[in-house]
Amino acid sequence: MNIIDLSGIYPHGRVIFSTGSFSFKSWGKAINVFNGKEGGFVYTRISNPNFESLEKKIAALEHAEAALVFSSGMAAISTVMLTFLRPGDHVVCSRCLYGGTDDLFANKLAQWDIAASFVNTSNLQNIRDAILQNTRMIFLETPTNPTLELSPIAAICGLLKKNNILVVVDNTFATPYFQRPLRLGADIAIHSATKYFNGHGDVVLGAVATNQDLINIIHDWRSILGTNPSPHDCSLVERGLDTFHLRIAKHNSNALQLAFFLQNHHKVKRIIYPALPSHPQHTLARQQMRTKRGVVGYGAIVGIELEGGAEEIEKFLNYLAQKTCVSLCVSLGSTDTMIQHPASMTHHSMPREERLEIGITDELIRTSVGIEDFSEIRAAFEAALDAI
Ligand SMILES: Cc1ncc(COP(=O)(O)O)c(C=O)c1O
Repeated sequence: MNIIDLSGIYPHGRVIFSTGSFSFKSWGKAINVFNGKEGGFVYTRISNPNFESLEKKIAALEHAEAALVFSSGMAAISTVMLTFLRPGDHVVCSRCLYGGTDDLFANKLAQWDIAASFVNTSNLQNIRDAILQNTRMIFLETPTNPTLELSPIAAICGLLKKNNILVVVDNTFATPYFQRPLRLGADIAIHSATKYFNGHGDVVLGAVATNQDLINIIHDWRSILGTNPSPHDCSLVERGLDTFHLRIAKHNSNALQLAFFLQNHHKVKRIIYPALPSHPQHTLARQQMRTKRGVVGYGAIVGIELEGGAEEIEKFLNYLAQKTCVSLCVSLGSTDTMIQHPASMTHHSMPREERLEIGITDELIRTSVGIEDFSEIRAAFEAALDAI
């Protein structure tokens, strides 16, 4: 057993509370903590100072009363679903979702008799039409992964105000730097903190931000399901947050430059990026995706459709992966630029018809634009296009 008395020691860096349980100096203190008369830590599945420190920062970023961290973005999403959905309930979801979330709603929750309707949530009428008497929740991804479709959060929340339907927004792509769902009326904001919060590709972690009442209920479920993260991973994400504002600004400006550079290239058929007037929700993006000071930002995921077919895609991806700074891999939001081909990678198990219907074409390449010097990114993409 380690008993370390930290009184009088004030580290400048981060302390990691790498412990399963916390010891009490007296039985009286233990009794008080257990019966809630005094605050304190008991067991890391329930809480840990490294969770709480990160949770305070995420709550502040999302303008939430409180937040909770989880072992992954999927742990955050599934814990919220198990907390609030019951057999017989119905959920309305964005038609395009991150693959794991899509599987959860389409296949896993269905086994508990929880039904989901997938609709194009960029259109309010589709939501009106999809709502049933047993609809308990709307789950939005905006922008969606990987098609970058946007949904009008404030209008949707206005529509559902009196229906007692929870509005949950996966805010991973926009981040609270550019979009604050709770301010727009949503009940819960969810994150894969694996992405921009951590920012360095070395951790898998999730987060939920909402009001204190809902946090208390979700916390109870997290404690029992054991979907908490590790203290060490929380400490890494907290370090990532120190540079969050700098990284996001650079991600955004690089993505903007890449999108405008590529859209005029003769070997590119289409660029999907909310900053481009050709994007179907460009006007909504300008209203909804803004910093606290009102500066518009569109995030750092750019969809690229090349002219040609599989041969061109193969040459392009291989050139980037083998000859440049760009990594061919899933995930996103890391310091380096990453590319992947959803039809053959993240969404390969989705039937082609279904995939095409939601906009994941055979040609689509998802680019997570990193924070390298832009000249390096531009040179990489220019050379890869020349190689086709
Ligand atoms: C938008 C979005 N939400 C949720 C997740 C799941 O997060 P995690 O991989 O941290 O479980 C991902 C993963 O890529 C994602 O892109």
